Amino acid sequence: MIDKTLMTMSGIKRIMSLLAGLAVLQALFIIGQAYFLARAIAGLWNGHALTVQLSSLAIFFLCYFLRQAVVFFREKILDEYAAKQAGLMREKLLQKVFLLGPAVVQENGTGNMVTMALEGIHQTENYLHLILAKMMNMMIIPWLILIFIFTLDRRSGVILLIVFPIIILFMIILGYAAQAKADKQYAAFQVLSNHFIDSLSGLATLKLFGLSKKYATSIYQTSERFRQATMSTLKFAILSTFALDFFTTLSVAIVAVFLGFRLLNGEVFLFPALTALILAPEFFLPLRDFAGDYHATLDGKNALQAIQKVLIMPETENRTELSLSQWQESSELKIDHLNFRYSTETDFSLTDITFQTQGYQKIGIIGASGSGKSTLVNLLSGFLQSVQNEKADIRIDQQKISHLAQNDWQKQLLYIPQDPYIFHETLANNVRFYEPAADDRQVLAALKVAGLEALINDLPQGINTLIGESGRTLSGGQAQRVVLARAFLDQKRKILLFDEPTAHLDLETEIELKQNMLPLMENRLVFFATHRLHWMSEMDFILVLDHGRIVEAGTLEELQQQQGFYVQLTQEMRGGKQ
Ligand SMILES: Nc1ncnc2c1ncn2[C@@H]1O[C@H](COP(=O)(O)OP(=O)(O)OP(=O)(O)O)[C@@H](O)[C@H]1O
Ligand SMILES: [Mg+2]
Repeated sequence: MIDKTLMTMSGIKRIMSLLAGLAVLQALFIIGQAYFLARAIAGLWNGHALTVQLSSLAIFFLCYFLRQAVVFFREKILDEYAAKQAGLMREKLLQKVFLLGPAVVQENGTGNMVTMALEGIHQTENYLHLILAKMMNMMIIPWLILIFIFTLDRRSGVILLIVFPIIILFMIILGYAAQAKADKQYAAFQVLSNHFIDSLSGLATLKLFGLSKKYATSIYQTSERFRQATMSTLKFAILSTFALDFFTTLSVAIVAVFLGFRLLNGEVFLFPALTALILAPEFFLPLRDFAGDYHATLDGKNALQAIQKVLIMPETENRTELSLSQWQESSELKIDHLNFRYSTETDFSLTDITFQTQGYQKIGIIGASGSGKSTLVNLLSGFLQSVQNEKADIRIDQQKISHLAQNDWQKQLLYIPQDPYIFHETLANNVRFYEPAADDRQVLAALKVAGLEALINDLPQGINTLIGESGRTLSGGQAQRVVLARAFLDQKRKILLFDEPTAHLDLETEIELKQNMLPLMENRLVFFATHRLHWMSEMDFILVLDHGRIVEAGTLEELQQQQGFYVQLTQEMRGGKQ
């Protein structure tokens, strides 16, 4: 019923003991309330004057007021605690996602991850807020009340004691059924968010091919499924609340009937009977409260579990512990027998990747579309991790490391991906990606080197114009040049990973830009994946990829002499469009 993960949260012990203390207080006030109300009524019944009962009534009101004060105080602490935990969790989740890298986001779906970080955290906050107090109340208040009822009237106590476990049993059965419904609802919600984001980002394409109507229907169907799952969960929740209310009311009625008979027979006095009767609904109240909110918090529980699942995903071991020295002229990278496979159904794999490099070499990675260039670059960046196998070996300066997702490695990377992402930020801040401290003058210079002077003049607020989603959108080529400007701005990072950095540019612009890019590649270790052959003459070493294997490696002259794959590839490409 309760998550074990809740118990692992920071400060949970302190908050639980505080809640326990408050629950005890609340129970005492409830008892006080009933006791003094019953005393006043019994007194009046026995013919005492109202003025005599005033003190009892005053204490009754005081207890009532204090009881509400406890609730208010409890809400306040829980509010703060839940908000703080939610903040921490969001931070942890984002950190974890960054540590795990883009591959995990891709696997779980962007929509799903976004919903998890926004809606999911919110639901968890709500869950924490509700469940902790209700749980504590349920574990403490009924028992204190019951002990008190036993001291007043043993028979009523026995009836309540017998009914309680029956209701609990009933609740557990309903709880399981509701959980199954809520699981289904959550799964439908995940599908819906992924589906929605995917369709949204592909909207232009869908429209172009006249498929948007069909997709609209499919989104409609998915949301309809979600609606049905939600309604069925709600139906269950309402039904079980009704059943619970019915049972508890029935139990209180039984207590009342028994007390009534015994009063008539003179077996019990009015005061204890009245106190027990007033307390009987209070005995069940925490249970009803808990059960009522239990359904409301099921989605929070699911969200917490989903978040927890991401949080406990194994990071690559020793991530931060290995210290690697700065890449320099004498540094060596040696990669042996690396394999990689996507965890989705695609049967593509990188097989037996083996090569070595030293110092400031420029390494070209060439191959047909789909041969695995981007995958290899991602492996080198540490965003993807190779499959464990005995023969696999990665060494930097003879130091064995099990993967490249090392802080000390990634800190040195300048990575220009094939489809660069432009943040919703000013142009200047987008360029400051690797160098947050760079001033406007430096940013401007970098943008000029990237050939974006005309764009800056075009923008209403120059480099301070908002770009990216919902700002001014850039063309593919402009976006790529903004990302290149990031590289031009950075002086310190010594390892460059280029994945088709010029793919979106026409050949003329590319040749123009090439003159500026070549100095950037000096005194750096460069991996350059491309299918544009003219870059190959600038490379010191070339890896030729085919179907995920390095089929040939060597300098340009060597490859040309070998008359093997490389020559064949160039002929195919020249015969094609280049
Ligand atoms: N995230 C992914 N999940 C599953 N399969 C993938 C993923 N990314 C790429 N692939 C598959 O891996 C293979 C290699 O893709 P990759 O992007 O590495 O090729 P590439 O050589 O960079 O191609 P291009 O020249 O078109 O950029 C392709 O068959 C592709 O379908
Ligand atoms: Mg690629």
